[in-house]
Amino acid sequence: MERWGILVMILLVAVAMQMVDCVDEGAKEVEEWFDKLPYAKQKVTNLHFFFHDRFAGRHNITAVRVAHGSGTDKSPTSFGLVFIMDDPLTEGLIPTSKQLGRAQGLYAFSGRHELSLLMSFNLVFTTGEFNGSTLTVLGRNPAVPHREMPIVGGSGVFRLARGVASAKLREFNMTTGNAIIEYNVVVLHY
Ligand SMILES: *[C@@H]1O[C@H](CO)[C@@H](O)[C@H](O)[C@H]1NC(C)=O
Ligand SMILES: *[C@@H]1O[C@H](CO)[C@@H](O)[C@H](O)[C@H]1NC(C)=O
Ligand SMILES: *[C@@H]1O[C@H](CO)[C@@H](O)[C@H](O)[C@H]1NC(C)=O
Repeated sequence: MERWGILVMILLVAVAMQMVDCVDEGAKEVEEWFDKLPYAKQKVTNLHFFFHDRFAGRHNITAVRVAHGSGTDKSPTSFGLVFIMDDPLTEGLIPTSKQLGRAQGLYAFSGRHELSLLMSFNLVFTTGEFNGSTLTVLGRNPAVPHREMPIVGGSGVFRLARGVASAKLREFNMTTGNAIIEYNVVVLHY
């Protein structure tokens, strides 16, 4: 009896989670969307926002260190260090400006001889026409002024998306550990 109770609870939680997702389309709607795809026109959407990564300091940490290698602490490039983030995306440079979504995923220090990150995360939009839709970024983020990372897919409005996310470090505060990165995203979708 207890086991059934737990299973029912899991199912109810799954249903509740589906209902909060704003792009409320099931497998059938997705199939229909694909059937109409030959007649769909491709669009280009430009997005601009600021990404706030706070991994140090005492308040409102948005990125946590979850793993490292045996030699990470001795590595000048922190090789092997892994962070998980849930960073706010805002309209303006100021952290308190309007929040457009979150960047959820991980970054790993993957360069043995140079400072370079592997980025693997989802841009989760929570306002306006993109509310409930996501874009998936997977790419290399080296320590250079301009970084370019591929958009490899998306969901909701951004189904079958492809594009490029250009990132530029705007501010970094050693005291608070707050890094502000400006993102310009160009994405092709239907
Ligand atoms: C985004 O979608 C969620 C889920 O449908 C909804 O609760 C929320 O109010 C929406 N937010 C905005 C700003 O439209
Ligand atoms: C932390 O977040 C709270 C609530 O969003 C905010 O009021 C506060 O100013 C933030 N603290 C810092 C140091 O940013
Ligand atoms: C870093 O943040 C602290 C606390 O908010 C602030 O006092 C300091 O001026 C900032 N430093 C820079 C270089 O922006």
